[in-house]
Amino acid sequence: MGYKTLCFGLTCILCAFYIFTPIPENIEEPWKVRITDAAIKTTSLVATILEKIGLKRFEDFLAIIVKLDYTQPISDENVTVMDTTFNDIPVRLYLPKRKRESQRPAVIFIHGGAFVLGSYKHTPVDLLNRWTANKVDAVVVGVDPRLAPQYPFPVPYEDVVSVVKYFLQDKILAKYGVDPNRICISGDSSGGTLAAGVAQLIQNDPEFKNKLKAQALIYPGLQVVDVSMPSHRENEHGPFLSMKLAIKLACLYFTRDKALPQAMMKNQHMPHGSMHLFKLVNWSTFLPEEYKKNHVYTEPIIGKLNPSYSILLDSRLSPLAANESQLRNLPLTYILTCEHDILRDDGLMYVSRLQNVGVKVSHDHMEDGIHGGLSFMAAPFYLKLGIRIKDKYINWLEENL
Ligand SMILES: *[C@@H]1O[C@H](CO)[C@@H](O)[C@H](O)[C@H]1NC(C)=O
Ligand SMILES: *[C@@H]1O[C@H](CO)[C@@H](O)[C@H](O)[C@H]1NC(C)=O
Ligand SMILES: *[C@@H]1O[C@H](CO)[C@@H](O)[C@H](O)[C@H]1NC(C)=O
Repeated sequence: MGYKTLCFGLTCILCAFYIFTPIPENIEEPWKVRITDAAIKTTSLVATILEKIGLKRFEDFLAIIVKLDYTQPISDENVTVMDTTFNDIPVRLYLPKRKRESQRPAVIFIHGGAFVLGSYKHTPVDLLNRWTANKVDAVVVGVDPRLAPQYPFPVPYEDVVSVVKYFLQDKILAKYGVDPNRICISGDSSGGTLAAGVAQLIQNDPEFKNKLKAQALIYPGLQVVDVSMPSHRENEHGPFLSMKLAIKLACLYFTRDKALPQAMMKNQHMPHGSMHLFKLVNWSTFLPEEYKKNHVYTEPIIGKLNPSYSILLDSRLSPLAANESQLRNLPLTYILTCEHDILRDDGLMYVSRLQNVGVKVSHDHMEDGIHGGLSFMAAPFYLKLGIRIKDKYINWLEENL
């Protein structure tokens, strides 16, 4: 009893402390954002403490919290929802009930969570996919790739490829009444990394006969080469996604070795032989002027880390660092970026790089946007921002898919 009261009291003090940390001025519903941000920071701190005292791994505690909000596949009046597998990878299908003479478009959606957390079962992801199916009258496939750290890179990527390969077969598309010429791959955050990487594979590999009509990337992470861009610097402490949290989780995609996140915090993680990638992710070249502000470009420092992770050169991790011939074949692209997001400049630069090679890009920038906004579309953490992001994404699909 005394122990519980003490824990409760400490949590309250922590929350209060975090609630009064400053947030950007132009944010809608500032108090709700403060409380949400405080909840995330407190959860993250509790996870750190549990790990330090050896009770639970950091990511395992966060996974428990996220799993509290998982849903069953429940059909509604408009959409039949079912869980199944494609090539042994779990997927959740959303099949519109509306009668239709012609074939439907389809959306393959990959959830965010830093390659470590999350699922299509997570309430906001389930809602997004359900609403997409209904509004766009599309077949939606939510994908659950296996996740790090148990299944590090490239397993999550390969799992998505495996699902897409299965779904793009003529006989499977026919089974679900899908038009092979109207397929989009979408994802948010790390799901956007996976979607963008897999889109590059499908469009460039002759093995894939059916190609994508579109890709939709919502505040995607698009590279691991340089983590000292203006957006990383300006949003280092969040709201929601701080550099520390992002790097701590994302590094688990490669290793449990704590030296990697430490080096990445200082932008000293890239190994020898990676210098040719710098010009492809050079924000001083590709970022629109208004985002450069007074920031001074500095190159990432190479060769500091032992052992070196040559895996970090893989373009499947950094779609932004692909060369022009790989970008040229990409389909119609939608990118949504948020102003208050460490990953903002990844998205802005992908817009520039794709436009430079003639890919048609629609870009929405949320001036008051925060990374992860889509995760707050249902109680108890409901933000109007989440609904606005959802509407922009779904409206784009309605008009373009
Ligand atoms: C079913 O679709 C209609 C029309 O789009 C919508 O008004 C209604 O809210 C939908 N029902 C559910 C459960 O989403
Ligand atoms: C980055 O771009 C700036 C300005 O365009 C240039 O001066 C610098 O040499 C570039 N660095 C790399 C590594 O591409
Ligand atoms: C672009 O990258 C691909 C894959 O890494 C490579 O096969 C190709 O040779 C590169 N093309 C150019 C022009 O550098």
